[in-house]
Amino acid sequence: MKKVHVAIMGIGTVGGGTYEILTKNHDFMLKNHGIDFCVKKVLDKNLERIASFGIPENAVASSADEIANDEDISIVIETMGGVEPAKSFIEKMLLAGKSVVTANKELISKHWPSLEATAKKGGAGLYFEASCVGGVPIIRALEESLQANHVNSLVGIINGTTNYILSKMTEEGMSYADALKEAQQLGYAEFNPTADVEGFDASYKLSILSSLAFHTCIPGTKVYREGITNVTKADIKAGKELGYVIKLLAIGKRHGNDVEVRVHPTFVPQSHPLAGVSGSFNAVFVNGDFVDDLMFYGRGAGSRPTGSAIVSDVVYAAKRTSPLYSDFENNGEVSPEINISTDFTSKYYLSASVKDAPGVLASLATVFAKNNVSIETVLQRGGVGGAVVCFLTHPAKESDIRKSIAEIEELDDENKVVSFIRVLS
Ligand code: NDP
Ligand code: HSE
Repeated sequence: MKKVHVAIMGIGTVGGGTYEILTKNHDFMLKNHGIDFCVKKVLDKNLERIASFGIPENAVASSADEIANDEDISIVIETMGGVEPAKSFIEKMLLAGKSVVTANKELISKHWPSLEATAKKGGAGLYFEASCVGGVPIIRALEESLQANHVNSLVGIINGTTNYILSKMTEEGMSYADALKEAQQLGYAEFNPTADVEGFDASYKLSILSSLAFHTCIPGTKVYREGITNVTKADIKAGKELGYVIKLLAIGKRHGNDVEVRVHPTFVPQSHPLAGVSGSFNAVFVNGDFVDDLMFYGRGAGSRPTGSAIVSDVVYAAKRTSPLYSDFENNGEVSPEINISTDFTSKYYLSASVKDAPGVLASLATVFAKNNVSIETVLQRGGVGGAVVCFLTHPAKESDIRKSIAEIEELDDENKVVSFIRVLS
């Protein structure tokens, strides 16, 4: 039997779930892993919250230094969130030789190389399974189970809050504001939900996942990002009519040395497995050159699922004799041979309000033809004082679509492209 003392910094939603698992499943882990986990110190601004877990006063840390200086503690869990002071606290722990387990995707996405360098300096490990896709063990799968493969693509729903909001709007006709409020009450949303709804959270996660999948640093700043705040009930309805469900997708692809990484609302065909991923559930489709298609599915947010991922890292760190570091040059830069392309190819849905007059449809078709955009389907409806025309295109280049939109709007003051949604094919 091995006694392992741990500390938790931040006992909110995720820290609370982690504490619950470490205490409720203590004997189970002792029996199965031979490890006697003891939560020796807890640090949180909110002393009442610490007390609500029945944590004794002598386990309440008054500062991060108290944890760093405690020689019994070998693993520190960071579940406070945000960049500072989480970064400084983590650095302190790593330099003191303590392995750190964190759920903080913003911090890992922005500072992974420097944190990993600090971990190496301190001879400690830095583990972050919980940072991506909640309870779903995707990081370990990419790091340790898919080494035989060139990963060609990963396509997924990797933010629980936006998936919850879009599912509620689609399935129950709930308003955006009410669905967001529910996601916050359920503990899925970030402290500032802008990180979720504007796609930042998914872009942090995609930068981490695609770095692991493609074996090169992919900084979060290289991820193309759009959130869900412009998605309307009309878009959801149009999608339904055309056989699609709207989802915030994170897409990472590698073709040779060309990589594309993007997060944006996407029409997913109703027959696609990702279309049925609802509520706080997340899923990631991975394609490798030998393994072919894999799908990872589970709860992407919430106290207990994320706590499960944290504790899996804690057990992993406790059992490893030497820390695990990235197997690519993790210097914060994209490898020189890699080209990150923003001019990706996709099918598109466009909806435009236009003047209802002879020749208008032909003029739009001419613009698309001039820009190499081939139309798959056209729908036209009468609107108040004009018409609404919806187009589904065959795969086209993003730059050609954007040129077409600008030219359609220049044709006539009344022309306005009201929706522009990429379609998964
Ligand atoms: P919470 O806000 O629920 O919990 C954070 C806790 O840390 C709060 O009790 C907070 O106190 C405390 N805290 C914050 N700053 C400090 C500080 N400087 N010193 C001491 N205590 C501090 O957040 P979550 O549990 O939701 O998220 C934590 C981390 O986990 C984030 O990085 C998040 O991105 C990540 N994550 C969250 C998931 C989720 O489903 N919620 C899923 C996956 C990852 P106070 O409230 O008083 O500020
Ligand atoms: N806010 C995040 C989400 C938490 O909604 O997915 C899980 O990372």
